[in-house]
Amino acid sequence: MKKMFQVFSMLTLIALSSAASAAGGHGLALDKAHNDIRDTESLQRGAVLFANYCLACHSLKYMRYNRIANDLGWSNEEVVAKLTYGMNKPVDIVNSHMQEGVALDVFGTEVPDLSLMARLKGPDYIYTFIRAYHQDEQGNWDNKILVGTAMPNVLEGLKRHQSAEDFDQTTRDITNFLEYVGEPIKVTRYDLGIKVMLFLFVLFILTYLLKREYWRDIKH
Ligand code: HEC
Repeated sequence: MKKMFQVFSMLTLIALSSAASAAGGHGLALDKAHNDIRDTESLQRGAVLFANYCLACHSLKYMRYNRIANDLGWSNEEVVAKLTYGMNKPVDIVNSHMQEGVALDVFGTEVPDLSLMARLKGPDYIYTFIRAYHQDEQGNWDNKILVGTAMPNVLEGLKRHQSAEDFDQTTRDITNFLEYVGEPIKVTRYDLGIKVMLFLFVLFILTYLLKREYWRDIKH
């Protein structure tokens, strides 16, 4: 009995510590983004929002405009018109408009590339982080998830002018877009997985019928 209790408490400890590390070590529970990478309209809105509110500082160095166009149902002309007012060529990499070295001067730190951020920290982290800004008594902005962060509260104006539901959707769309950017092939991979499972299921039935056929006349 004692042993069982020990095993049980150890398992609880492991579960608790992995939950804490999943939350990124800040000890706060993450909000669920409930985003859907199959929702193309949300991805399109997210791409435009990203271009307007994040691209000034953050790059997506593993992504090109024409790939976004292809995956999100835009033409090559449309993608650059919508995301950079035609300032880029479709084949360009999604680089931020910030010149090298400037970030270090302005923010005292480098601005991370966001290509793989959703893979690194999870979509729910991004969703919670960009919504976690609050003002202290002196009126200074800080972030509950990344206390003392150098990133300004870039969505402040949007939040003030949007209803709570619209702001939820806006931040969900940005998160959705960044999850897509983290693994553009994900939807295809899932679809392939389902096809493989279906194939295996049909194969199982055929094999079973074949087995019955082979053993039909044999007494066993
Ligand atoms: C004015 C420049 C600027 C803009 C615009 C900006 N960021 Fe940032 N961002 C930063 C800086 C600087 C950091 C590094 C923060 C730090 O290390 O404290 C950062 C860090 C981050 C991180 C990583 C946080 C972590 O835990 O390390 C994420 C995610 C992020 N930004 C998302 C976004 C999104 C999404 C947008 C658009 C809605 C955006 N940022 C717009 C400057 C910016």
